[in-house]
Amino acid sequence: MTIKPILKMGNPLLLQRSQEVIDPVAPEISQLITDLFDTMYATKGIGLSAPQIGINLRVMIFGFEKSERYPNAKPVPTTILINPTIEILTQTMQAGWEGCIRVPGLRGVVSRPTKIHYQGIDEKGQPIDRIATDFHARMVQHEYDHLEGILFPQRITDMRLFGFENEVWDKIITNNIPVYDL
Ligand code: NI
Repeated sequence: MTIKPILKMGNPLLLQRSQEVIDPVAPEISQLITDLFDTMYATKGIGLSAPQIGINLRVMIFGFEKSERYPNAKPVPTTILINPTIEILTQTMQAGWEGCIRVPGLRGVVSRPTKIHYQGIDEKGQPIDRIATDFHARMVQHEYDHLEGILFPQRITDMRLFGFENEVWDKIITNNIPVYDL
């Protein structure tokens, strides 16, 4: 069991575009996936990407059966997604207060498309091809951004809706925008 340290905003590694995986069944990729799951579960997360633990490869994991934090959210299958691509399927955007383990203590409102088509391969090299909506779509977009070297503060359009969680808490409660920890 290996829990890796999580890099935080400001670390230059987080600004790099991660590289494609050449061989998804290589032992070092299996080890990376194991480390990602150990680290995600230890931090009670629902998604994690390789660059978050300092490996700039295009590998992400996400999913949950039932989340204490999001009791009404539809389950998202536990997924290992390698070399993903995303296609936006709607112009409908939804606002959410996002938080990220790489940007601890801060929250900001990020609007994202509510419906996407994503593709990639799993840890056996088998294709993954899905349509995702709402929370599932947001989760994949947030993790995908990590592979591109983009953190959620770069997606905030109104910087007045960004701040330390304890300071913006009144706004979070009153403006009725859902909260997501990704
Ligand atoms: Ni994140």
